[in-house]
Amino acid sequence: MKIDLVKASQGETALVVFATSLKKGKQETTKVTHAKVHSHLSASLADKSITGKSGEVVSFRDTHFEGHRHLVVIGVGDKLTHESVRQLGPTVLSAVQGLKAKSVAVDFAGLPKGKKDHTSFVQAFAEGLVLSDYSFDELKSAKKKDDKKEEELKIHLVTKSADAAAKRALSEGVTLAETVNFSRRLGDMPGNLMTPSILANTVVQAVKGTGIKSSIWDKARIKKEKMGGLLGVAQGSAQEPRFIILEYKGAVASKKPVVFVGKGLTFDTGGISIKPSAAMEEMKYDMCGGANVIGALLAIAKLKLKVNAIALVPATENMPGSQATKPGDVHTARNGKTFEVNNTDAEGRLILSDALCYASELKPQVIVDAATLTGAIVVALGNTHTGYFTRNSDLKKKIENAAEASGEWVWNMPLTDHHVKDMKGTFADLSNISSGKGAGSATAAAFLEQFVDDGIPWAHFDIAGTAWAVGNRLPYCPKKGASGAMIRTFVELAKSYV
Ligand code: BES
Ligand code: ZN
Ligand code: ZN
Repeated sequence: MKIDLVKASQGETALVVFATSLKKGKQETTKVTHAKVHSHLSASLADKSITGKSGEVVSFRDTHFEGHRHLVVIGVGDKLTHESVRQLGPTVLSAVQGLKAKSVAVDFAGLPKGKKDHTSFVQAFAEGLVLSDYSFDELKSAKKKDDKKEEELKIHLVTKSADAAAKRALSEGVTLAETVNFSRRLGDMPGNLMTPSILANTVVQAVKGTGIKSSIWDKARIKKEKMGGLLGVAQGSAQEPRFIILEYKGAVASKKPVVFVGKGLTFDTGGISIKPSAAMEEMKYDMCGGANVIGALLAIAKLKLKVNAIALVPATENMPGSQATKPGDVHTARNGKTFEVNNTDAEGRLILSDALCYASELKPQVIVDAATLTGAIVVALGNTHTGYFTRNSDLKKKIENAAEASGEWVWNMPLTDHHVKDMKGTFADLSNISSGKGAGSATAAAFLEQFVDDGIPWAHFDIAGTAWAVGNRLPYCPKKGASGAMIRTFVELAKSYV
């Protein structure tokens, strides 16, 4: 797919225009926002075959209107937000794919909007298009052959103000969505093809030419660095763990970095506290926190944000091997704190403990982590909102603003000293499971907090409900595959540290 801004349409196969439906009292008026199309379709407007209601798609084949073979009218209702514009992306894409059009002009100038929305609408629309262009079928033999034959779809956004700001917005939208798609692929890859070492190697390749420096620690180095949590989880697996460090320098060296940490559990069987078989295959997604912070860093670098940013991803499998950690075993994290592993399935917090210690040593402005950490967050919030935890009110505000700008849904969850108390150990400093009932996501967050140095603003995002299989909620997201949750929000958040 190639998206460009143009000042006039150029005989593309399909022309896409928009229709609004405005309500005044009982009176509903439909207007096609492209004046010439409006008069051309007066009969369809009169008999209400076109209403302009949001979600309506009316295609006219072989109309040959002003040199375009097909004409498509898409209803947008009475008001647009950047999220509804993002959702127009997949609507347009499926309409033109249905027409088998390979070039399309979109009457972007006709979208109802205030002037200040123009660039954010261009960005959102581009995101919607590129995000919905994602599919994971590289492992299907038939599809691989088909791909070679396919011609690239050309999309022209016809807008009078194809100025520098609009061009930047287009390129930002495309870059963001492409990095989300990159991270989705990492998540969708099955566990046998996305082991810790494959993940690390893929990332080393991906950062080439972006200005990001990558360092990959192997098992020996991880041992030397006293990462007892990561080693303890990895010891049951034949696959070696990796600790992935990505560094981007967009600001002066003296500026403290923004550090992202992501759970890179490439497959979670539960270990000796083994999970039930049903849906266990979904645990290939347990590395989405890692994949998504990698995506965020790639986007930050490609957008050349004037910020220093680092991503840390502890990567391992959680397997019930003969060497595996047993319930009751005690390990020591990098900062010297000890923990009893009373349930080997609560492993995410163990690998994150060392990564958060290391993040604290970097003396950052802020630490933000993303992890598919608990089933409890799925119970609490389902697959709409990502639950986040922070005790820092300034960071909370920044997160709310970032999510508002990205269009992703987040929900602030409680984290208190009560939750910390529930994580005290009997035979070690900490237990990896709560001594109390309920609040499983908050007690997990409280465990993580033990590894963040005092005074460093920190937020934890539990993406277990939103990292994959978000169903039909977002038309630009695969129903079953990885979503890339929080990449766009993390990029917005990084902007607030510029
Ligand atoms: N990776 C899982 C969390 C998870 C569960 C993500 C379901 C997505 C969907 C995590 O490692 C885990 O198993 N957590 C346990 C913790 C419990 C043993 C305290 C859980 O949530 O059940
Ligand atoms: Zn687990
Ligand atoms: Zn897990």
